[in-house]
Parts: sequence; C-alpha cells; structure tokens
Amino acid sequence: MKKTMSFVVAAISFLTIGAIAYSHSPETAFPLAVQQDEIKMPDVVVLGTDSKLGKVTFSHVKHNGGTYSIDGTGPIACIECHHAAQPATELAKHPPLKTAWPTDRTTTLTAELFSKDPKGAAVAACRDCHARAGEKPKLIPAIPEIKHESSTAMISLNNQQALHRNCAGCHTEVAKTKKPMKGPTTMQCMMCHKKA
Ligand code: HEC
Ligand code: HEC
Ligand code: HEC
Ligand code: HEC
Repeated sequence: MKKTMSFVVAAISFLTIGAIAYSHSPETAFPLAVQQDEIKMPDVVVLGTDSKLGKVTFSHVKHNGGTYSIDGTGPIACIECHHAAQPATELAKHPPLKTAWPTDRTTTLTAELFSKDPKGAAVAACRDCHARAGEKPKLIPAIPEIKHESSTAMISLNNQQALHRNCAGCHTEVAKTKKPMKGPTTMQCMMCHKKA
C-alpha cells in the first residue's frame, strides 16, 4: 500500500516536473523523478518485533558512521553485515560464505555504490534468508546451515542464530580491546531485547 502510494506520488511529480522541464531538457527531468521513488538507508531498524524477549532497536546510522569497526578506526563495511551483497568470486575468499544475492551480482555493496544506485545495490533484509525457526525464507529454498566450528554438527542460521552471531559476535571482539564497551555481548540479552 505504502509502496503503491509513493509510486503514485513519484508518477505525479514526474508528470509535473516532466511537463515543466520538457521544453528545456527531458533528459534531466527523468532522473529527478526517479530519485523520489528511491530506497533509503534506514537510520534505525526495529528488529525482532515478534520476539517474546522484546524487540531490538538497532541504530543503523551509528553503526555506519563514526568508528564502530572492530579495530575502532572507521565505519563498519556494509558487507560485514550484508554479506550476500558482493560477487560470488569475492565470497569464495571468505568461507564459509559463498551465497551471493542476486546470484549473478558483480558489485560489492558500499556507501558509495548505494548512493549512486540504491536499487542496483540490491540490499536484501536478513530475514528474507535467515527466517525464524520453522518458517520458509523468501529468497532462498531453506534456512541456511553451516558446519559448527569445533564439531561436525550443523548450525541452522535462523534469525536468532544469524543475528546473534553477527551482532554479539562483533561486540565480543570489540570488548577485547575497548573498555568499557557499550555494545551488548552474547549473554547481555536485555541490553538488546527491550519490552516496549
Ligand atoms: C546484540 C544484540 C542481542 C543480544 C545481546 C541478544 N539478542 Fe536475541 N536477537 C537479537 C536480534 C537482532 C534478533 C533477530 C530479530 C529479528 O528476527 O529481526 C534476535 C532474536 C532472538 C530470538 C528469536 C526471536 C523470534 O522468535 O523471532 C530469541 C529467542 C532471542 N533473540 C533470545 C535472546 C536471548 C535469550 C539472549 C541472551 C542470552 C539474546 N537474545 C541476546 C539481538 C540480540
Ligand atoms: C552492523 C550491521 C550493518 C551494517 C554495517 C550495515 N547494515 Fe544495512 N542493515 C542492517 C540490518 C540488520 C538491517 C535490517 C535488515 C532486516 O530488516 O532484516 C539493514 C537494512 C538496510 C537497508 C534496508 C533494507 C530493506 O530491505 O529494508 C539498506 C538499504 C541498508 N541496510 C544498506 C546498507 C548500506 C549501504 C551499508 C553500508 C554503508 C549498510 N547497510 C551497513 C545491518 C547493517
Ligand atoms: C540472500 C540470502 C541472505 C541474506 C540476505 C543474508 N544472509 Fe546471512 N547467510 C546466508 C547463507 C546462505 C549463509 C551460509 C553461508 C553462505 O552460503 O554464504 C549465511 C551466513 C550468515 C552468517 C554466518 C557466517 C559465519 O561466518 O559464521 C551470519 C552471521 C549471517 N549470515 C548474518 C546475516 C545478517 C546479519 C544479514 C543481514 C544484514 C544476512 N546474513 C543476510 C544467506 C543470507
Ligand atoms: C562489526 C562490529 C559490529 C556489528 C556487526 C554490530 N555492532 Fe553494535 N556496536 C559496535 C560498536 C563498536 C559499538 C559501540 C561500542 C562502544 O562505543 O563502546 C556498538 C554499539 C551497539 C549498541 C549500543 C548503543 C549504540 O548504538 O551505540 C547496541 C544496542 C548495538 N551495538 C546493537 C547491535 C545490533 C542489534 C547489531 C546487529 C544487527 C550490531 N550491534 C552489530 C559494533 C558492532
């Protein structure tokens, strides 16, 4: 519904801008209109809305600005989290990662790529692959599995496992050098999950 609305708004502004600009330059009028329907990088994402422990408010903007990287020198690379947003040839260098999305992509997600071409940058939500236990993911046939680091067991990377590994995994690394550290580590459940 929201998508349809913004499309309608974009279409109307296109017609208006198009009508005004047509006599000068129809080429420059078109990108103007397209920009209004673009995907934006979220400032804050509320995750885990159906978690019994409470939802998780994640500051996307803070993690992408400043110095939140493990070594504390700059922002976190987009693909540290959006790992599927790079070509399969790059992924092959970082096992167990191997799955690119879209499968034939040739670009690596960066702030620059996203600002130039948000649609082409193709960012998929984690949950579209890392579905909740027992649910079928939207983009791939089944919830991903990887082999456990220290045994032959397989780990099902449902939403809980994947996000805990990504989020708390990094905070644990950061905690080794940064003290005190504000990022919640694995056992600090209620620093991430909050009842409304
Ligand atoms: C670093 C932040 C963080 C910490 C710490 C954390 N969680 Fe989570 N948890 C998340 C996120 C993010 C999700 C995924 C939510 C989603 O699917 O959008 C999640 C998902 C879950 C889910 C699955 C919810 C569902 O049904 O979809 C459970 C259960 C859960 N966490 C329990 C815990 C417990 C228990 C602890 C402490 C031992 C804990 N979490 C610590 C961030 C955290
Ligand atoms: C620390 C982890 C992390 C980093 C770094 C990160 N993101 Fe995200 N991003 C997320 C999470 C988590 C979501 C929410 C996904 C979901 O809803 O499942 C998200 C959502 C998005 C969305 C919205 C996707 C949608 O379907 O609504 C866009 C666009 C996006 N990120 C772009 C970027 C770009 C560009 C960068 C690099 C400049 C970046 N992200 C860096 C974790 C991250
Ligand atoms: C297109 C599907 C897809 C999307 C989108 C996706 N993942 Fe994954 N993820 C996978 C698959 C499949 C694997 C197993 C390894 C592989 O095949 O690349 C995996 C593996 C992982 C791992 C384990 C990596 C390791 O080294 O232990 C983590 C953690 C993870 N994903 C977190 C995330 C987070 C966080 C997001 C969103 C910001 C996300 N994933 C988005 C499909 C996806
Ligand atoms: C690659 C590293 C990395 C990843 C991945 C990461 N974080 Fe963080 N996070 C940090 C750092 C660094 C801080 C700031 C620590 C400090 O200032 O003491 C932080 C701080 C936080 C805080 C404290 C409030 C704030 O924003 O400063 C929360 C809550 C948090 N992270 C949640 C998450 C969640 C949820 C995810 C996964 C979706 C996530 N983080 C993924 C590095 C990371």
